[in-house]
Amino acid sequence: TNPSILILPGDGIGPEVMTEVEKIIAWFGEARDLKFNVETDLVGGAAYDKHGTPLADSTLEKAMNADAVLLGAVGGPAYDDLDFSVKPERGLLKLRKEMDLFSNLRPAQCFDALADFSSLKRDVVAGLDIMIVRELTSGIYFGEPRGIIKEGNERVGINTQRYTESEIERVARSAFELARRRGNKVCSMEKANVMESGILWREVVTEVHAKDYADVELSHMYADAGAMQLCRYPKQFDVIVTDNLFGDILSDAAAMLTGSLGMLPSASLGAPMENGRPKALYEPVHGSAPDITGQGKANPIACILSFAMALRYSFDEGAEADRLEAAVETVLANGARTADLIGEEGVEPLSTSAMGDAILAALAAS
Ligand code: NAI
Ligand code: MG
Repeated sequence: TNPSILILPGDGIGPEVMTEVEKIIAWFGEARDLKFNVETDLVGGAAYDKHGTPLADSTLEKAMNADAVLLGAVGGPAYDDLDFSVKPERGLLKLRKEMDLFSNLRPAQCFDALADFSSLKRDVVAGLDIMIVRELTSGIYFGEPRGIIKEGNERVGINTQRYTESEIERVARSAFELARRRGNKVCSMEKANVMESGILWREVVTEVHAKDYADVELSHMYADAGAMQLCRYPKQFDVIVTDNLFGDILSDAAAMLTGSLGMLPSASLGAPMENGRPKALYEPVHGSAPDITGQGKANPIACILSFAMALRYSFDEGAEADRLEAAVETVLANGARTADLIGEEGVEPLSTSAMGDAILAALAAS
């Protein structure tokens, strides 16, 4: 049977960009005989409107059984005043938690045609292709004890950075596996100079490397130095593996090396399922963009590149993922731009669907 994909378009521009991905999935079915069983369901505000919850149990069950989940975006002003427990974001967080997606892949890739869009100089970023692997389910965002307590006559805010050996090991393995399919280099970042969890992190990464991945080049860096190096000479990196907190910050910083939010894909991977595929959720980094919703202005490339990641990491179709990424590169090189990619006057922006069609045309010509 065909592999299955659950599509959760969500809110705001989510459905607009997902429509373009659906066209591309259909193209792969027809032109490349790469067929998927696609099912679509609600998440976020759209699910709340229908079911009174941002993630219905039936949707969660479909997600747990799908070979890959593709999500657009959730949230928007209509839901800002909802109770915390039913906010659209809770739907996404619940999905990540239930699927136990511990390895968050955030590529920072700079297409040559967009290098002038970066906040850094063109030659620092042109051709950049790095991957940040962020541990997503543990660390200081989850560790206990936590809370605001009273100590004498002042309040104290407490969070705990806590990592078990097995939590570090599994994300390290996912980074080494990834590196083998790329530039074969991993840089692990922590603060082993001042944090116990950092000392353990470095030890476990080093042990896993020596035991099973000695063919991959491993280096270690303190996360603050890593932030400097990311801005100074980002091309020195291939895969960076780091914890939840540092990964949150470093991946956002790395994202800005490459230009628009409308260009950034992501993948969140969990443990292998019975069929050997990892549990997986693919989504653009951007949100629901209420300021441009319904205007046909949204850039669909982040969502399309997220599907390319699904082809590569869930379906083992690396060559087809390359084909899709090359089509994106081609249209950009030919000057196709959605409104978010236009810096100077005089360039006519493409609509969301016109950008999708341009990518389809480039695919057809490939
Ligand atoms: P946002 O990412 O939705 O938008 C930030 C800015 O980038 C806006 O000016 C928007 O127009 C622009 N932008 C974003 N994606 C774009 C695209 N594909 N093409 C062109 N321009 C694009 O972040 P914001 O405004 O902070 O949040 C809006 C809503 O989205 C909130 O409800 C927030 O909670 C939610 N959100 C959801 C996320 C998710 O579903 N993973 C992530 C971030 C925010
Ligand atoms: Mg962040």
